[in-house]
Amino acid sequence: MHILRFADLVTAGRVRGQRVFIRADLNVPLDASGHITEDTRVRASVPCIRMALDAGAAVMVTSHLGRPTEGQFRPEDSLAPVAARLAELLGRAVPLVANWVDGVAVEAGDVVLLENCRVNKGEKKNDETLARKMAALCDIFVHDAFGTAHRAEASTYGIAQYAKVACAGPLLAAEIDAIGKALADPKRPLVAIVAGAKVSTKLTILQSLAAKVDGLVVGGGIANTFLLAAGLPIGKSLAEADLVHEAKAVIEAMRARGAEVPIPQDVVVAKEFNADAPASVKAAADVAADDLILDIGPETAALLAAKLEAAGTIVWNGPVGVFEFDAFAKGTETIARAIAASSAFSIAGGGDTLAAIAKYGIEKDIGYISTGGGAFLEVLEGKTLPAFEILERRARESNPG
Ligand code: 3PG
Repeated sequence: MHILRFADLVTAGRVRGQRVFIRADLNVPLDASGHITEDTRVRASVPCIRMALDAGAAVMVTSHLGRPTEGQFRPEDSLAPVAARLAELLGRAVPLVANWVDGVAVEAGDVVLLENCRVNKGEKKNDETLARKMAALCDIFVHDAFGTAHRAEASTYGIAQYAKVACAGPLLAAEIDAIGKALADPKRPLVAIVAGAKVSTKLTILQSLAAKVDGLVVGGGIANTFLLAAGLPIGKSLAEADLVHEAKAVIEAMRARGAEVPIPQDVVVAKEFNADAPASVKAAADVAADDLILDIGPETAALLAAKLEAAGTIVWNGPVGVFEFDAFAKGTETIARAIAASSAFSIAGGGDTLAAIAKYGIEKDIGYISTGGGAFLEVLEGKTLPAFEILERRARESNPG
């Protein structure tokens, strides 16, 4: 993918004294009193901001926070907690600027945070007038918001159309490089783990991966639908009976390529969905009518761990069991530790996956941890995200042929 990179503009000396507008994804979870509970995205935005400041730019940064109603600013929509955290991380003041669409005062060498861009009318629908106004604020637009790369909004897409220069920030570039390494030309075997409650929400991902991967590990409610497809009982476990034929098609597509969807041989079941419910291990064929499957069993976990340890590349989205409850966490823990121990290049993304990685303390052993939620899933689906489409187009236009 050919896109202009901000780092290259810096190296070429094209940033000094320029007004740089960085679209970051600072959409972080806040508790009831407005404190940031998980700041990965704020930390991940720092290298781009530092790069711009060190290069002598006048720096504007913005992000959305939540899904506010356009035109109605409420105190809880404010990026104030993010401004405070950014100031700590950068070791300098980060003034927060409201009502910024018609003009921003910022000196070269300084940074300001522009208040929640989703309160601007026209943001979601990528309104041209709004996008042109934002583009006029800067000399260089830097898209560094991978978590928002699947959205075509005024501050992510329209501004990239109309800004004098539009490029990818280091986070956006690193994300696409890592995903490209995992999916475009992977070291084989390529094993993907796709787990979650429902096949329906990840069907297109499963179908897209079925054409690429050597092993497709399914987990959670998705695995239950695949167990049904394999003719196995699942008791009263969560599954989507109407998607069994789709699951069969995925199994067939994989088989036709000489690849496989390993179906769990054993599972951990309980009679109720709660943390204290007595857990028992059963062969998948022995699941009773009143059982709930809440994890993969130890034999299955060991088999999958061996596949992961022998893999060349691993893509991980979703825990394979109810890892929040200790009695049903062993499958996910075994998988997590196998990925950590594997010499494969691994890439992981999605909220639950990141929570599992944090729980087992294996952050440093994962090749790349994506900041994207929906964006990561859409890349796995094989979609070209709007952020990359527009940045490629701009790069082509500025350098035809
Ligand atoms: C996310 O949290 O996945 C991104 O910040 C995108 O947020 P959105 O789904 O509200 O567009």
